[in-house]
Amino acid sequence: MHNFDQANIAKARIEKTTEIAKSFGAASRSYDVSARLQRYSGKHLMSWLPDDTDLTVVDLGCGTGFFTDILASQYQQVIGLDVSTKMLSFAKQSRSKDIFWLEGDANSIPLQSNSVDLIYSNLMIQWLDPLDSAIKEILRVLKPGGLFLFSTLTDGTLFELKSSWKQVDDDQHVIDFKTESMLETLLNTDVSTLIKQKNNPISLEYENVLHLARELKGLGANKVHDRKNKGLSGKTKWQKMCTAYQDFQEPNGVYPASYHVFSGLVKLNP
Ligand SMILES: C[S@@+](CC[C@H](N)C(=O)[O-])C[C@H]1O[C@@H](n2cnc3c(N)ncnc32)[C@H](O)[C@@H]1O
Repeated sequence: MHNFDQANIAKARIEKTTEIAKSFGAASRSYDVSARLQRYSGKHLMSWLPDDTDLTVVDLGCGTGFFTDILASQYQQVIGLDVSTKMLSFAKQSRSKDIFWLEGDANSIPLQSNSVDLIYSNLMIQWLDPLDSAIKEILRVLKPGGLFLFSTLTDGTLFELKSSWKQVDDDQHVIDFKTESMLETLLNTDVSTLIKQKNNPISLEYENVLHLARELKGLGANKVHDRKNKGLSGKTKWQKMCTAYQDFQEPNGVYPASYHVFSGLVKLNP
């Protein structure tokens, strides 16, 4: 590949990451009240944490620092890393004073190679594109035998919303989620092994589609950089999409949204 092409790809990635950081930053104050999915998956991951306490741990994409705080009560040195300045300043004000907060991009982690025992990352890596180079970067900072404990969303997540928008236009309104087998291929290599995994399909209930949209917005999960016709999904399109979503409405009136939460524990091969 030419240097020029590589520079353009890197520029596009930085622009996309900046947009994601802005979107999450705008949600930093409302995040904790709309984070029921994050709380659920993050707590599940906690049960796979190693018992040793003498560890250097990074919470990658720490957001408001809810889980960073819990990690800090268990491990010797804990770093909360996030790309969003606003998320980090909220975390700094609200969490344990022992935590070291670091602004940085998971695509280019500002830490030395072989320096971390455990990377914990709850519902963040679905934003990393391309994921394969980000995984290499995550594994680079781990010490030999180090662990990467993560959760992410897989294919099938928000399919109701995706298919309702499909009836309105061809634009991309929801990010593309990886399949379970794509994750297995990326993580089972000569460098690392996926030693534990679980895919948990769950359905959350919403009073209406606006409630779902507000929750996704509160999570900073409402923006997709690759959308072709930004600004054109006006009121009419929104209403058409809501009408299409009624096909999924349950007899008791609630609107379901599906999430496929994949949890994994990866070990860096010796
Ligand atoms: C859904 S939130 C999860 C936050 C936290 N892990 C939790 O469980 O509450 C995703 C977080 O990842 C951060 N993020 C997104 N892309 C990132 C990147 N490339 N590098 C570092 N952080 C990133 C966002 O700013 C946001 O705070």
